[in-house]
Amino acid sequence: MAPRRHRLLVASNRGPVTFTEGDDGEFTAKRGGGGLVTALSALAQLHEVTWVSHALGDGDVAMRDAAGDVAFEEEARGGGTYRLRIVGQPDRTYDGYYLEIANPLLWFIQHRLFGFGWHPSITRSTHAAWRSYRRINERFADALDEELVAADGRDGENPFVMVHDYHLFLVPGMLRERSRAAGRPHPVIQFFLHIPWPDPGAWRALPRAWIKEVCVSLLACEILGFQTTADADAFQRTVRHFLGATVDLRTGTVRYLGKVTRVRTYPISVAVDEFEEHAQSRSVQRLRERIAAMRPPGEDGRLIVRVDRTDPSKNIVRGFEAYRLLLTEHPELHGNVAMFCQLDPSRQDIAEYVDYLAQVKAAAKALNQRFGTEDWTPVHVNLDSNFQAGVAAYLEYDVLFVNPVADGMNLVSKEGPLINERDGVVVLSDQAGSFNELGPYVIPANPFDITQQAEALLEALRMGAPERAERAGALRDQVRARDVTRWMDSQLDDIEAVLADGSSAVLGDTASAP
Ligand code: G6P
Repeated sequence: MAPRRHRLLVASNRGPVTFTEGDDGEFTAKRGGGGLVTALSALAQLHEVTWVSHALGDGDVAMRDAAGDVAFEEEARGGGTYRLRIVGQPDRTYDGYYLEIANPLLWFIQHRLFGFGWHPSITRSTHAAWRSYRRINERFADALDEELVAADGRDGENPFVMVHDYHLFLVPGMLRERSRAAGRPHPVIQFFLHIPWPDPGAWRALPRAWIKEVCVSLLACEILGFQTTADADAFQRTVRHFLGATVDLRTGTVRYLGKVTRVRTYPISVAVDEFEEHAQSRSVQRLRERIAAMRPPGEDGRLIVRVDRTDPSKNIVRGFEAYRLLLTEHPELHGNVAMFCQLDPSRQDIAEYVDYLAQVKAAAKALNQRFGTEDWTPVHVNLDSNFQAGVAAYLEYDVLFVNPVADGMNLVSKEGPLINERDGVVVLSDQAGSFNELGPYVIPANPFDITQQAEALLEALRMGAPERAERAGALRDQVRARDVTRWMDSQLDDIEAVLADGSSAVLGDTASAP
């Protein structure tokens, strides 16, 4: 069932665009990076959306000040408009929330990036940062609450609230508490987590009171959405462990203090039509020529591509080690293969990310020093947040290398096969959420096993044309059949079912149905 146009109140830390103010006072909007923004931008075209996000830089603050502290209208990519409300400013409170809690702590726990012998250490500073995390979540809850009050009674249905990602774990609880205190009906809240939810054991790194606070807040939602069944199950086991909530894994139902929350799985995907159109744009096609020129000449010339943020979870350094091993063991590949890496230097205000970027650069340099010749550069690295260069690289790859140690979904592994025009082969980590859907058509990679990754690359490079075509076609069909519209529609169908049901009673379907 395709749901009708809905009124949605969407909240995420990063908004669809960030603004810069020119000397002439004109504002330029730049598309935000990462999978969340990609997917939610499509939502804005199809529904009546008010999007609440945080100011990330001075341009955003200036834009908000120019617009007044209210939602203003913005053009959606691909047509239509949505309302955008920018909250807060990038102050010290924001730094505690983003630079100390959300990214180095929650992100690292959820992607299991810590070696517990060494990290994390929860210090006085972390405790202060947790208070900042709470305060920024309050900024969002206040803005959402105001939007709800403003919308109440306006024509048609009241908006559903959709809260996104680990930055905003405390928002559902705060929002519900605000309506309770004001004697208003509870808003219908849905939370979607874009990144993995690990087993309860991983959460023991957080002070117990904090993980309980997170769990209690999330259970204020009507529906909780995860990328995979493994995440949904791990969440349910976590609330059973830390809160003693009653959990039915089969139906995806959690009961806690008299409230029922449904736990569902919605694998995120690509806005197919828009993405295909974008691939044909003149700017992408121009970049494409430059990237194609990196492929060594001749019939045997092959181009391996990777497109990532420079995040330790993306496993770029081990990827280079695997490529190095491949070149060491297969001199016949020298001069016949090249790797192009489009890397977005992510979160460079955080020490772990600065260190990781330095390691990435050093590994690429060492590779070129060891193997490069006057006529052959084994690895080309383009370090900038150039979305279009990534799209251009998708068109041109012979092998797409995606080897994260953990990943909620990984949209690169869906975007690439959708538009690639060379029957390219995908080498995909079995730890990416997308592996659940794409596994049969890719060459699997164990992200920790460098030898196996080198073998997987070799297999991909040597694969014959008929098998390449067959796999590439199957991948494309798979992505087309489950595009982002389906991701949204199934969530909205479930919200409608909750509303129709009205009583917070248990639905009959399962958490696992994709
Ligand atoms: C992932 C997260 C998003 C985030 C994006 C980019 O996709 O799930 O919430 O926006 O990374 O990270 P950044 O910290 O730059 O917003």
